[in-house]
Amino acid sequence: MVLVDSHVHISMKDYDTDREEVIRRARAAGVRLMVEVGYDLESSERAVGLARTNEGIVAAVGVHPHDAKTWNREASDRIEELAKEDSVVAIGEIGLDYYRNLSSPQEQAAAFRAQIDLAARLNLPVIIHERDAFEDVLSILVDAGAERLPGVVMHCFSGDWRAARRCLDRGFYISIAGPVTYKNSKFQEQVARLCPLDRLLTETDSPYLTPSPFRGKRNEPSYVKDVTEHIARIRSMPVEILGKTVLENAYKAFGLDEVKDQVR
Ligand code: NI
Repeated sequence: MVLVDSHVHISMKDYDTDREEVIRRARAAGVRLMVEVGYDLESSERAVGLARTNEGIVAAVGVHPHDAKTWNREASDRIEELAKEDSVVAIGEIGLDYYRNLSSPQEQAAAFRAQIDLAARLNLPVIIHERDAFEDVLSILVDAGAERLPGVVMHCFSGDWRAARRCLDRGFYISIAGPVTYKNSKFQEQVARLCPLDRLLTETDSPYLTPSPFRGKRNEPSYVKDVTEHIARIRSMPVEILGKTVLENAYKAFGLDEVKDQVR
């Protein structure tokens, strides 16, 4: 079985004692591609370092809405510099988070727009974080011309099918995470069932959002197997075919067609 984890943060200190083991377990589970996603300058640097030294791991660099208040000329220059590294396949995670509002909505919007423009300039896809801000995220994406980007990935999608449909209509990818396995995850199951197969991605968002039956423990990329198995069950399809299809989607979304053989 082959699998993809489109969103991990395994360069975080949570994995300092056993990172090699975690990567080994992911590979043993069939995970062929992991995207290590930055959320500020430091984590973006770490993502590049991790991807540079590990086959099958690629990086995304960017400033999360929580840290949007740190977005300035210097941050922009550094993210742009990092984004030009070979191992970097996307700008992210970027977006809006009105749930925690750790940066003001104005600061969030400014950093978000600037990073969409950066992605457009470098012809890179974007990985979108959205919480309690769907309408504003969608309108900024449309307004900033995100449809011209090589890919838009809606990370850990938690909206309903109507919201998903509006993303799919614009050619975006829907990435489903661990909450799809929770008993109260009505929307995620519906979206995972109805999403066209060629627009679907899987992720763990490790170390967060641990899927059942490991809920409560630290998350890790090998658990994307449980996410994928759950979606396969919902869709009544063989997990092997789902895993392979979603991996292909990830290669396409992140423009990895040319290096596919290496990643494999
Ligand atoms: Ni994340």
